[in-house]
Amino acid sequence: MLKVLGLAVLLSFSGVAMAASVADSHTEMAGCESCHKDGAPSADMAYENETCIDCHGAMNELEGDAHKQHDGIITCSDCHVVHQTASASDSCVSCH
Ligand code: HEC
Ligand code: HEC
Ligand code: HEC
Ligand code: HEC
Repeated sequence: MLKVLGLAVLLSFSGVAMAASVADSHTEMAGCESCHKDGAPSADMAYENETCIDCHGAMNELEGDAHKQHDGIITCSDCHVVHQTASASDSCVSCH
């Protein structure tokens, strides 16, 4: 909880507030390099999706049915369109 609170304070000081995309919130924390090798996007996003798992855990370890139902089937960025402010819940219709 402390970590989440810290992030919220950080974001409100920088004026980004709640509407920030996941990429923006993470760039605030640790720069583009937190997800992109040397800050540059890879061709297949495999490296990027591996960074999510390094910090958050794998799909079968994360809370929520959406994660467990797709373990081994799709990757984080299939639902979390991180450079947009859209919620991951909005992604379902693109496949189902
Ligand atoms: C939370 C991890 C994360 C952070 C932080 C992040 N990105 Fe990304 N980025 C991604 C993912 C995942 C994709 C691929 C999916 C997408 O386009 O949303 C992507 C896509 C991109 C693309 C498009 C690549 C393509 O081939 O379509 C560019 C350009 C990019 N990022 C640049 C940046 C820059 C510059 C920063 C820092 C200001 C940054 N990213 C921060 C995860 C991140
Ligand atoms: C360097 C470690 C790190 C990496 C890499 C990382 N995250 Fe995070 N992420 C965090 C932290 C820390 C938080 C804020 C505290 C929390 O919610 O766990 C966070 C928060 C989030 C949130 C909550 C909303 C928000 O913007 O704060 C989502 C969703 C998320 N991450 C998804 C992703 C996805 C998807 C990727 C890969 C593209 C990724 N993260 C990569 C550390 C990381
Ligand atoms: C099938 C779609 C889907 C996939 C794939 C997926 N997620 Fe999620 N994720 C969701 C949904 C839906 C939520 C809850 C609602 C929201 O945050 O938009 C969520 C929530 C989260 C949260 C908590 C966000 C918060 O606000 O506290 C984190 C962190 C997260 N996901 C990380 C990941 C990581 C890391 C991966 C890859 C290992 C991943 N997700 C793959 C759909 C998905
Ligand atoms: C990138 C494509 C994609 C996205 C985005 C996606 N799914 Fe899926 N989902 C699949 C695939 C592929 C399967 C496995 C094959 C199947 O059962 O249809 C699956 C399986 C499921 C299942 C299990 C179905 C069963 O019969 O066991 C549920 C429930 C589900 N998805 C709900 C969701 C929800 C809710 C979201 C949004 C949070 C979502 N999906 C986002 C592709 C996706």
